[in-house]
Amino acid sequence: NGDIPEYQASALLMAIFFKKMNKDETLNLTKAMLESGEQIDLSSIDGIKVDKHSTGGVGDKTTLVLAPMVAACGLPVAKMSGRGLGHTGGTLDKLESIENFSINLTKEEFIENVNNIKVAVAGQTANIAPADKKLYSLRDVTATVDNISLIASSIMSKKLASGSDAIVLDVKIGSGAFMKDLDSAFELAKEMVDIGNGMKRNTIAIISDMDEPLGYAIGNALEVKESIETLKGNGPEDLLELTLSLGSRLLLLGKKVETIEKGREMLKKVIDNGDAFEKFKEFIKTQGGNIEQIENTELLPKAEKIVDFKAKKNGYISEINAEEIGRCALILGAGRKTIESKIDMSAGIVLSKKKYDKVKKGETIASLHGNNDKKLNEAINRMEKIIKISENNIGKKQLIYGMVDKDGIKKI
Ligand code: URA
Repeated sequence: NGDIPEYQASALLMAIFFKKMNKDETLNLTKAMLESGEQIDLSSIDGIKVDKHSTGGVGDKTTLVLAPMVAACGLPVAKMSGRGLGHTGGTLDKLESIENFSINLTKEEFIENVNNIKVAVAGQTANIAPADKKLYSLRDVTATVDNISLIASSIMSKKLASGSDAIVLDVKIGSGAFMKDLDSAFELAKEMVDIGNGMKRNTIAIISDMDEPLGYAIGNALEVKESIETLKGNGPEDLLELTLSLGSRLLLLGKKVETIEKGREMLKKVIDNGDAFEKFKEFIKTQGGNIEQIENTELLPKAEKIVDFKAKKNGYISEINAEEIGRCALILGAGRKTIESKIDMSAGIVLSKKKYDKVKKGETIASLHGNNDKKLNEAINRMEKIIKISENNIGKKQLIYGMVDKDGIKKI
């Protein structure tokens, strides 16, 4: 309420940054930030409400695939999502590439949709964790963002306010993630899981790769198209695998299945029998979206120009830096440089190759979709520095690095 001057709050943040917080202090800060604002009451939705949260990435369209799949299995998905900023994309922006799709639901509409069709995705309208908003803006200007307890309490205060009974966290690691090394990613995941369980919400985390983009498509309409392909059973391996890993745990926490294996089977079944895709169409239609664009993805926003980035030599892809690819997509217009920026829904990048794939000289590695020659040129030039080709195949892919639950860390 403004009683504490900013210089004192900044001094507190600086002290926390250098001295760190213990478990109780972290939990208490989270609680105070959570209770500073509105908390959504989902008790009028039948069943166990589960939520998934990703720490953000490039090409991460998991919610678009996961929400209808889990809903098709009968578990209610009441999801509040965010917008993209900088090199990371946001679920709301992706959904808004579908004509007339509305993320502005009243609380009543949101709850009614979940009760009727088991899924709703909306933007945050409520005044969620305003103390976090104030502290975050102070962290930004006092160089105290990068502290694990502060990051964990900031994310969890907002997550806990959205009212779900159980939470599955997807903590990203790699070049496109907040956490660039494995130990920090596990530490952040453990901190968030402890906060969730400390607040009596069943919380678990998966640590997943964000060293290269997830799937092949980066950019709003392009990602919707890839999500639809995945729901129809024709999606990229990594996106499908991450969706099955997260989804099976959501079904487990929601008590729809007794084991993760059974959860995976249930999810695969709703893809095979078409229920997941039908649920996606129902969800889009219920929130006002143009269903014709879902049935025929050629009708989604399309860029005027597509320029291919080609391999200059034979070899194997050794690096596709996710953050840099995100920045290229941003140049093309797919993201926001500032909160006010307007997004070009058709712009983005479609990879033809992923890390460790074999490539021949002259073969296309990525196609850049854009509407402005200058931006396309700038992005293509930047790609030269981002995509590395080595003579020999040096690496082995890993998508999931481990799990964290109330019993601790399990590395794979
Ligand atoms: N995202 C948040 O919401 N808070 C942080 O501190 C970092 C990432």
